[in-house]
Amino acid sequence: SILIVDFGSQVTQLIARRVREAGVYSEIAPFQSAADAFARMQPRGIILSGGPASVLDEHSPRIPDTILNSGLPMLGICYGQQALTQQLGGRVEKGMGGEFGEAFVSVDATCALFDGLWTEGERHQVWMSHGDHVAEIAPGFHPVASSPGAPFAIIADEARRIYAMQFHPEVVHTPDGSKLIANFVRHVCGLPGDWSMAGFRAAKIAEIRAQVGVGKVICGLSGGVDSSVAALLIHEAIGDQLTCVFVDGGILRAGEAEQVVGLFRGHYNIPLVHVQAQDLFMDGLAGVTDPEAKRKFIGKTFIDVFEAEANKIGGAEFLAQGTLYPDVIESVSFTGGPSVTIKSHHNVGGLPERMNMKLVEPLRELFKDEVRVLGRELGLPDVFVGRHPFPGPGLAIRIPGEVTRERCDILRKADAIYLEEIRSAGLYDAIWQAFAVLLPVRTVGVMGDARTYDHVLALRAVTSTDGMTAQAFSFPGDFLPRVTTRIINEVRGINRVTYDYTSKPPGTIEWE
Ligand code: XMP
Repeated sequence: SILIVDFGSQVTQLIARRVREAGVYSEIAPFQSAADAFARMQPRGIILSGGPASVLDEHSPRIPDTILNSGLPMLGICYGQQALTQQLGGRVEKGMGGEFGEAFVSVDATCALFDGLWTEGERHQVWMSHGDHVAEIAPGFHPVASSPGAPFAIIADEARRIYAMQFHPEVVHTPDGSKLIANFVRHVCGLPGDWSMAGFRAAKIAEIRAQVGVGKVICGLSGGVDSSVAALLIHEAIGDQLTCVFVDGGILRAGEAEQVVGLFRGHYNIPLVHVQAQDLFMDGLAGVTDPEAKRKFIGKTFIDVFEAEANKIGGAEFLAQGTLYPDVIESVSFTGGPSVTIKSHHNVGGLPERMNMKLVEPLRELFKDEVRVLGRELGLPDVFVGRHPFPGPGLAIRIPGEVTRERCDILRKADAIYLEEIRSAGLYDAIWQAFAVLLPVRTVGVMGDARTYDHVLALRAVTSTDGMTAQAFSFPGDFLPRVTTRIINEVRGINRVTYDYTSKPPGTIEWE
């Protein structure tokens, strides 16, 4: 495996992605705890990330000595290059303004990183983003690529197998970057590149069995891809020691509950408790119009219901969660000294502490698209694997104003028509998320010879890569008119449909 030491770059996760794409397992550790991670992982190579600090500052982050003196191959990126240089006896200088954006490097010498990729005399595009720069390279190094702004764009000490670059190979703006990284992990570190999801599945199953023993595990199933994959994997490991709890608060999409229960209980034979908590949720939501109040009530009620069910099942000491890698990577913090913050999974925050249970989180090392690959590997049907994200508070945050049973029913019908049309137009997979919002606004219309005075429905569809930013999806010309006609004809209570073209930012994806 490869250990990635994080010095706080915004793009450190991309390094992990590139290494895994090369078929090699990698983990990220913040520089403060990298020595522990090193001892635990016993990696075959080290990558040192970029970061916002300056090695010239007094308390700047350093490469732990055990790592620096390990004799393992190392690749330093940006700050990583500067830290290597300074700690190995070279010199780093403050930049005047720095260098940001696209640049071209010329290849000046052969280097193991260039195998089958770059040859001497060629020029290649890279992405620079740095303030300080290396002024004097450390003993043993020589430059192998340079640019007008960066004479030491790439430096190498082939004897010690230490390489360092001023630019960022992990971003897409360095077109050959992933191949440079692949050459490092495969040629230089000699790793075979055979890390696969099949191997991960087998290893995780063994790990879950070892952790759980004969204990009981409960898993909150939402129907989303993360909890579905986690439940399947755990079931494969420990069979009926796992019980799934599916809380139905009446704020799910049309057909969702039937699909989840049918698949997990019916098809996979996994013990599943389907909690019908519609009354509890709807009664509690009566009169609540503030978005945050809705979210808080739903979050708290979900936990109450889940806890009550867990107590009924009894004897479970483990709680399974579909936590993903981006949720657990410790973020490097410079403002609060050497402390680290761990993001908590926003859907189930507080549950494990309150219930005093041990966590089983078999997806902790995976990125979202890797979870999908694992889901396919486990035979999870495509409708689950490729499902759009759906928020925990469900339809309740898609009904501005008061949430009632009747409004949920109206929204469910309209939303189902919208999604059915998206699927039959073959657009589902091109969209990150599509949904309808039922507005607390009534407008006048005419149907037949009668006057109507009914709700407005807003349709929304966005593209996104991670949900952090999003663009409105542009449907082909006749799509929205067709959906509008269907919804108004088929759903009583709606007489007008609009489309939301707001991107994020400035909007958010959900309306509340
Ligand atoms: P926003 O509305 O903040 O949403 O742009 C970004 C993404 O997060 C989803 N979302 C949630 N997911 N629990 C969830 O599991 C929540 O409370 C929640 N709120 C928003 C939203 O659907 C989008 O994919």
